Formats: sequence, C-alpha cells, structure tokens
Amino acid sequence: MIYYPLSTLLLAGIKDLLIISSPRDIPSFENLLGDGSQLGICISYAVQENPEGLAQSFVVGREFIGNQHVALVLGDNIFYGQGFRDILRRACQRDTGATVFGYPVSDPQRYGVVTFDEAGNPLELVEKPDHPDSNYAVPGLYFYDNQVVDIATNLQPSARGEYEITDVNKEYLRRGQLHVDRFTRGFAWLDTGTHESLIQAGDFVQTIEQRQGLKIACIEEIVYNAGYIDADQLGRLANDINNEYGQYLRDLVD
Ligand code: G1P
Repeated sequence: MIYYPLSTLLLAGIKDLLIISSPRDIPSFENLLGDGSQLGICISYAVQENPEGLAQSFVVGREFIGNQHVALVLGDNIFYGQGFRDILRRACQRDTGATVFGYPVSDPQRYGVVTFDEAGNPLELVEKPDHPDSNYAVPGLYFYDNQVVDIATNLQPSARGEYEITDVNKEYLRRGQLHVDRFTRGFAWLDTGTHESLIQAGDFVQTIEQRQGLKIACIEEIVYNAGYIDADQLGRLANDINNEYGQYLRDLVD
C-alpha cells in the first residue's frame, strides 16, 4: 500500500519524503524503503505516538518541513487518471495558500465535505457531516504553503479528540487562501479504509493493470522515467525481486 501515496508525491515532483506512522509500523516501512537512495530520492521517518489526527503530521514533521511548502497524502488513498501528473504539478506551483480537491462520492458523510457557491468557489467545509449539503468529498491529498505549520500547531482537538485536517483547511478558507480543484468524471479516487473499499480498490487496480500490461503506482518506474535512477540501477532493483513485479521492471530496462 505504501507505494500508492509515495507514487502520488513522486509524480508531483517531490523527492524529499517523510513517512509518518505508528511506532509499530515505522520499522517495517524503514526495512522496506531505507533512506530512498536506491530510488534516487530521500526518505525520512517519524513516529506519531498516538492516532490524534492528520493535522498533527505538521507538528510531528515541523523540522522536516523547515520553511518549505509541503504536501500531505494519506496512506490509504489511491488516485488514478489521465492528467493526474499535471494536476499535481499545478498544485505544487501555487506560491501561497492551500490546494485541496473535491471528488463526487455517493457516501459523503464518511469524509470531509466541501460546498461551493454559484461561482464554484469553496463556501464551507465540514468533517463527516450527518446530513451533507454537497456530495463533494475532500480526498486525502493536500498542498500547503508554510503557514500550515503554525495553523496546525495552534489547533484545538475536535469533539472526536483529533487534530482535524478539515480544521486546517477551514483556516485557509477563512484567510481566503483555499483553492479547491474538482476532479471530474473519469478520474478515480479510491479509499481503502474499509474491508469493502480495499477489495474494490484491489479489483480496480488489477483490472487496469492486467488490461494494459502497465503497473499503477510502480515507484521504480516513476523514478526511472524521472531520471532519478539509470537503467543499471533499475536493473539492480529488478534483480532483487524474483517475481512478476521484478520481471516488469526488467522489461522496462530492456
Ligand atoms: C480523513 C479526513 C477527511 C478526508 C479523508 C479522506 O478521514 O479527516 O476529511 O475526507 O481522510 O480519506 P479519516 O481517515 O480520518 O476518516
């Protein structure tokens, strides 16, 4: 699963990555990915001691972020669609404010929900509303300027006891600095946070991959295409993987 969020950030052109997870899971990620140098990128790790909300990642990651802009992608969110790379690059290039996205879903009450005014500008954000006024959910992919660190540091926990990413976005909205880009028809945002949605996502990925013979979220392929590693290095990575995935990488080299 970790390959999906990583591939999203790599497609955005981001090479300096921080993986934040629980004390239990961080060692496994570190074992799998190391410092990222084998992929021509830089991966660091940080522990979130307790699951106290997504906005805490900017406090946990404060030093990593420094005075830079930052993007956050949730580990259970999968994005797939033509033009995704350009959408990501546009969000990265914004000088000030925040960029989040809107995606129509049939069950908005499970998500952060955004409503729009008649001109299509964001009007209101609500976290998991019982009676959503819009079917636009906000996916787990966020781009922020450096204000996010202070905004997140000054948040109060919500009624469910979490530092909510929606409260961060509300503050950007209040400052008149929230951009909400809408994903259109034909774009897939899959969430794998329930057993059912995980199976659906697996079916979707398997169907597309088998049909096209191309892999979704293959980070080795992305870094190779981006020129972060050369064919020799891709070949070395491929040779360490003795299965169909390794063969896919070997075919790329050839
Ligand atoms: C979180 C956010 C929510 C967002 C969702 C996307 O929900 O709080 O605003 O729409 O991720 O996956 P959670 O994973 O906490 O249920």
